[in-house]
Amino acid sequence: MESALTARDRVGVQDFVLLENFTSETAFIENLRKRSSERLIYTYIGSVLVSVNPYRPLNIYTAYHQEKYQGVNFYEMPPHVYAISDNVYRSMRNENKDHCILISGESGSGKTEASKYILQYLSVCSSNNDKVEHIKNRLLQSNPVLEAFGNAKTHRNDNSSRFGKYMDVQFDYRGAPVGGHILNYLLEKSRVVHQAQGERNFHIFYQFLEGADDETLRRMQLKRNPNDYAYLSGGKCARVPSINDKKDFQTVKNALKVVDFPEEDSLFSIVSSVLHLGNVCFDDSGGKATISNDTMSHVRIVAVLLDCKCDQLVTALTHRTIEANREKMCSPLNRDQAMYARDALSKAIYGRMFDWLINKINGSLDLKGQSRRNLIGLLDIYGFEIFQRNSFEQFCINFCNEKLQQLFIRLTLKQEQEEYEAEGIAWEPVEYFNNQIICDLVEQRHKGIVDILDEECLRPGDPTDLTFLKKLEETVGKHPHFVTHSLADPKVRKTMQYDEFRLQHYAGEVTYSVEGFLDKNNDLLFRDLKETMSDAGNAVLKETFLKAEVTSLKRPETVGSQFRSSLNKLMEILMSKEPSYVRCIKPNDTKQADKFDDSLVRHQVKYLGLMENLRVRRAGFAYRRTHEIFVKRYKSLCPDTWPNYRGSTREGVQVLCSYLDYKEDEYRIGKTKIFIRFPRTLFATEDAFQARKHELAAMMQATWRGYWQWKKYQRMREAVTKISAHWRRILAQRLKEKRKTGAQAIRKFIIGFMNRGRARCPENAHFLDFVRISYLQRCKNKLPTSVLDKSWPRPPAALIETAKLLETMNMQNMVRKYVKQMTPERKIVMEEKVLASSLFKDKKESYGESLRRPFAEKRLNEPMKPKMMSMIEAGEKVMYACSVLKYDRHGYHARPRVLAVTSKSNYLFDAKDGKLKQKIAHESLTGLSVSSLSDDLLVLQAPAENKEKGDMIVTNDYSIEAATKIAIISGKPDLVKVVGRNMQHDMAGGKKGEIEFAAGQENSITKAKNGNLIVISRSR
Ligand SMILES: Nc1ncnc2c1ncn2[C@@H]1O[C@H](COP(=O)(O)OP(=O)(O)OP(=O)(O)O)[C@@H](O)[C@H]1O
Ligand SMILES: [Mg+2]
Repeated sequence: MESALTARDRVGVQDFVLLENFTSETAFIENLRKRSSERLIYTYIGSVLVSVNPYRPLNIYTAYHQEKYQGVNFYEMPPHVYAISDNVYRSMRNENKDHCILISGESGSGKTEASKYILQYLSVCSSNNDKVEHIKNRLLQSNPVLEAFGNAKTHRNDNSSRFGKYMDVQFDYRGAPVGGHILNYLLEKSRVVHQAQGERNFHIFYQFLEGADDETLRRMQLKRNPNDYAYLSGGKCARVPSINDKKDFQTVKNALKVVDFPEEDSLFSIVSSVLHLGNVCFDDSGGKATISNDTMSHVRIVAVLLDCKCDQLVTALTHRTIEANREKMCSPLNRDQAMYARDALSKAIYGRMFDWLINKINGSLDLKGQSRRNLIGLLDIYGFEIFQRNSFEQFCINFCNEKLQQLFIRLTLKQEQEEYEAEGIAWEPVEYFNNQIICDLVEQRHKGIVDILDEECLRPGDPTDLTFLKKLEETVGKHPHFVTHSLADPKVRKTMQYDEFRLQHYAGEVTYSVEGFLDKNNDLLFRDLKETMSDAGNAVLKETFLKAEVTSLKRPETVGSQFRSSLNKLMEILMSKEPSYVRCIKPNDTKQADKFDDSLVRHQVKYLGLMENLRVRRAGFAYRRTHEIFVKRYKSLCPDTWPNYRGSTREGVQVLCSYLDYKEDEYRIGKTKIFIRFPRTLFATEDAFQARKHELAAMMQATWRGYWQWKKYQRMREAVTKISAHWRRILAQRLKEKRKTGAQAIRKFIIGFMNRGRARCPENAHFLDFVRISYLQRCKNKLPTSVLDKSWPRPPAALIETAKLLETMNMQNMVRKYVKQMTPERKIVMEEKVLASSLFKDKKESYGESLRRPFAEKRLNEPMKPKMMSMIEAGEKVMYACSVLKYDRHGYHARPRVLAVTSKSNYLFDAKDGKLKQKIAHESLTGLSVSSLSDDLLVLQAPAENKEKGDMIVTNDYSIEAATKIAIISGKPDLVKVVGRNMQHDMAGGKKGEIEFAAGQENSITKAKNGNLIVISRSR
C-alpha cells in the first residue's frame, strides 16, 4: 500500500486513516468517489475494508491475483478482499486463533459476492489433497443451493439474500479446510406468500418450473408458466433478463449432488406444495371458510405431495383447535383466517424446509471425526435498513446492526487498547458514542422493546399493535433514544404518524410502524396444521415438524426473542474470535456501473457508521507500522540509517524520526511499532522518500552495472585461466608425445644403423627405408637440370643400380623435354650444329670453341650495301653473310670482303665499295676446305676455268660456321674437307698455290718466302 501513497492525488488515499480531514464526511465520500471512478473499489479504514459495488465484472479476481496476494504483507499491496482474506488466514495459522470476517452493507452492496470471493480465496490459498478438495467443493457448492432457496430478486438486488448467514470454515493443523458450519438468521418468509410489485419469490420456484424435466413437473402436477401460481404472479415480474433460471436450476441440481442430498424429491415436493397451496382459495359460507371447489384439486395434490391425509389437511386449513384446561375446542375459521392459515402453512413449511436444508448442508460439511484446529467465520448479514415505512423486519435487522456496532466498538477499542498496552504507549482515551444504551433499549430483559412485544403478544385479552405501542410509551417512553408521536415535541410530531415509534440508532434515527408487529412476532401456525404436518410422510416434514412440538404445552418462542437469543449467541461466537470487517457500499440504486450517487453513498456511510469507525481508528494515531517496515522503507532518508542501521531497529526508528524532525506530539515509538499521529507527517516523509528513490535508483543502477561488469570480467578471467591451463596441458602432452616418438625414432635409427650391413630384417628395415627415402629425396632436390649437367647424387651402396636407372631415366626425360620444347628455328640451328659436329668433331682443333657459339645468319661488321644486294640475282635470297678477309691468290694480300651465300651462289663483295669481286655457284663448288688446326682459313674450291677466278681463300673468326652454312645451303656437305698440314689451291690460268698450316705462338697468316701462304694458329 505504501507504494500507492504517491498516486493519492488521482486515486485518493488507500486508507481513510490517511485522510487529513478525517472528520469530514464530504472528504470521505470524495475519496470513495475518486477511487471508484478509477475502478478502485476497495479502500481501508485501518484494517476494515470498504468495498464499493462496481456493478461490472472486474479483472481483479483472477488466479494471478489470488497468487499475488498470498503471503504478502497486508500493507504492501493495494487494498483487496483477498488481502483481508490472506491476512486472516495467515494470522489464524500463525497465531493459532479463530477469526471472523464481518461483511455488512445494504442490500445489493456486494456482501454475498465478497463472501464468495473470500471463500474462494480461502480454498485456493489453503493446502490441497483429495480429501480437502472434497470438502472445499462442498463448501463452495453450498452457495448455489442456499442462494436458490434463500435469495430472491428485489428492487435493490436481482440476487438478494433474504436471510442472514454466518458460515464457519474449519481448518486442521496444516491449514487445510476440513469442515464447515452454517448458521442462518431470519429468513424473510413473508416473501413466500407475497411479493411487492417488481419483486420475485425465492429463486427456486422459478428455477424449478423452468428447469425441471417434463416428467417431474407432471408428477408434481405443475405447469411451466409461473403466472399460473398466485404466489409467483403477485410481483408481476416472473422473468428477469439478468437471470437464467433454467441454467441456474442445473447448477443447483449439480450442487445438490455434491452436497449429497438423497431427499431431493421430498424437497421439490415441498416446493411444489407451496405453489399449489398458494392457489387454494376459500369461499365464505355464513362466516365459515370452505375451500373453493375449483381449487380443491390443489389441496389434493398437496396431500399427495406431502403424503398426508387430504381430509385432515382440508379441516386444518379451515378450522382451529384450541386447547384450554386440557379440553380441546375446534372452531371453524372465517375466510380471512383460513387464508391466513394457508399462508402461515406455506411460510412454515418453506421456512422449516430452509432450516432443514441448512442442517443437511451442515451434515455434509461436518468434520466427521477429523480434528479441527482453528476456524474462520464469515458473516454475510443485512446492513442497516431504512425505508419509507419500516416494520418488524427492519426493527430486527437494525437491532442486529446495533449489536454488531457494539461488537465493533468493543473489539476495536479493545484491540487498540491492547495494542497500546503491548507497545508500552500511554492509552489516550477515545471519545466515541457507545451504543450499548440502544442495545439495552431493545433487548433488556423485561424492560426492552423485544420483551415488551412478547408480553403484549402473550397477554390474554385483545392485544393489538397499538396497545403494544402504548405499552412501549409507558415502559420506555423516557428513554432518550425513543420517541413516539404522542411523546414527541410538536416539531418532531409533525414528522410522525400515530402508529409509529422512532429509535435514535447509532447510525441515525429510524421510524417504525407498529402495524403487523404482533403478528410477525407471533408467527403463528395453528395447531391443526402443525399436527397435520407432523403426521405427513414427506421425509423433510418428518424431520421438521416433530410430534413433540404438538404435544408440548410450552408456548413457542416468539420471533423477536428467538432472534435476540440467536443474535446473542452470534455475538458470543464473534467475541471469541479476532474480527475483520468488510463494509459494502452500493454507489447507486439502479445497478449501474460508473454511477456514483453522492447522497446514496452518504446515506450508507452514515448507516454503516463508517465515520464513527474512522473516528475510533483515528482517535489516536493515523499510521502504525512495525519498526522493521518503517526503517526498511525510509532508511534511505537519513545518512545514519542508510544503507543499514547498525543498532537495534527501535533506535533506528528514533534516529530516523529525529533526523526527519518529527515533533514530539507527532509520533510515539512503541516496543515493536511506530505510531504517527497525522497523515501529513507521513506524507511529507513519503514525498521525501519518492524524491530520494530516483537518486537511489540511479545509484543502484550504477552499482548493479559495475557489479555486473565485474562479474562478467571474473567469468572471463576464469574462462581464460581455464582455457590456458588446458591449452598448456595439451601442449605439454604433445611435446611429451613428440619427445617420446623422437626418442623411439632415434633408438630405432641407431639400431638400424648398427644393423645396416645385414640383409633386410626387422632391426634395419626402417633404417634402410629411411636411407632409401632420404636418398630419393636428396635426388629429388639435386637432380641435374640440364642435359649437359652430368652430375648425380652419390648413392648408398644398396642403391647403386637404382641410381643408374634413375640417372638414365632422368636424362631421357630431360632430353625428351628439351626436344619437346624446341622451336623449328632452334631445331635448324641444332641440325646445323649436328652437321658441324659430324663434319668437324675430332677433326678440327677449333671445333670445341665453335660448339659453344650458336650459328648466326649474319656476321657482318656493317650491313650489306644496296649495291651488293643489287648484284644478287633476282629471286635469290641471302641466306648467310659474313665479313671476311680474302687472300688473293697471287700475293696473298688480305682484302676486306663480304661473303654472301644465296641458295644458288656464293658472292664475294668488296667490303668498301660493294663491288662484286667473285661469284661461285654452288654447283661449281668442288670443295670447302679447312685445316685440322685451330686457324679459321676457309677455302671455297672451284675450278678456275672459263674465266673463273678459281678457289676463294677467306678467313674470319667463324670458319666452321661459314663452312657448315655453305655446306647446308648448297646441299653439299660432303664437299667439306679437313686437310692436314698443307693444301693446294687453284689459281687462274691453271696454276696451283700452296697453303701450309702450322701451330705456333701467335695466329698469323703470311706469305712465306717460298711463295706459300703460311697459316699459323695457336694450338688449344
Ligand atoms: N466485486 C464485485 N464485482 C462485480 N460485481 C459485483 C461485485 N459485488 C457485487 N456485484 C454485483 O452486485 C450484485 C449484488 O451483490 P450481492 O448479491 O453480493 O449483494 P448483497 O450485499 O449480498 O445484497 P443482499 O443484501 O440483497 O443479499 C451482484 O449480483 C453483482 O452483480
Ligand atoms: Mg446477499
